[in-house]
Amino acid sequence: MAAARAKETEREDRLFHDPLAADLAGEDGFDWLERMEPAAGGPGMYAVVRTRFFDDFLMEACESFGIRQVVLAAAGLDTRAFRLKWPSGVRLFEMDLPEVLDHKEDVVENAGAAPICERSMVRADLAQETWPKDLLGSGYDPDEPSVWLIEGLLFYLPRDAVHNLLDDIGELAAPGSRLGLDLMNWNLLFSPVAWPQLAALARRGAQGRFGTNAPEAFLARHGWEADATQPGEEGANFGRLPNRPAHRGLPGIPRSFLVTAERL
Ligand SMILES: C[S@@+](CC[C@H](N)C(=O)[O-])C[C@H]1O[C@@H](n2cnc3c(N)ncnc32)[C@H](O)[C@@H]1O
Repeated sequence: MAAARAKETEREDRLFHDPLAADLAGEDGFDWLERMEPAAGGPGMYAVVRTRFFDDFLMEACESFGIRQVVLAAAGLDTRAFRLKWPSGVRLFEMDLPEVLDHKEDVVENAGAAPICERSMVRADLAQETWPKDLLGSGYDPDEPSVWLIEGLLFYLPRDAVHNLLDDIGELAAPGSRLGLDLMNWNLLFSPVAWPQLAALARRGAQGRFGTNAPEAFLARHGWEADATQPGEEGANFGRLPNRPAHRGLPGIPRSFLVTAERL
């Protein structure tokens, strides 16, 4: 993801500017990106479109809806704390596994980068039940509305862990809160077209596990009113994805969804 963002940053017509991404990706990251299967719009373009889509979503939550708590679940090598123009008073929480946040911290410190908002790191395993305590201990206030982003995670988690995570987030999200996340559908998990990419991910310990063909119903079950957009559709295209996705009514097609939701 960081390598894809670094490549995008080099473009004149870039969709975002992520000056830390190249160092965060390192040689390993760029090798990995080069070995990815060709995808619509080029390798890593899904990550690029997704990044910009959720950049806009997070900024709208803060600027238009007055939210001042931002939680990036599975933040990984995300540098939004450093590169988005946050309004004053924003407190941003990055959650991920300790080794990932430690690596990011080394790079950020070496670069002398300063966050544009108040930033906290929460080293936690989101597949376990203990992370809400860690987040609360870092100063998160469950009585204040918040905006959450679960980007690039749910696909890799077992079904029970996905539902537990959404249940826990629901308990911490006050009315008026927002949630963004990406999902794959079931057909993608079993698609011969996606197989080489899925096999490459599995070899690196990131096996695809979770998918749903009904993102809105999945979110409604957890108390969120959701809108799902497929990358390439209007609002999730940015002139980068030439092929419009097939209509949702057509069965059997591998799909991904960029989902935004409001707490009911
Ligand atoms: C594909 S990356 C996406 C990172 C980031 N959201 C982005 O888009 O660049 C998936 C992230 O999920 C994190 N992750 C996977 N399993 C996790 C778990 N059980 N608890 C916390 N983080 C986890 C990984 O460490 C990794 O940073």
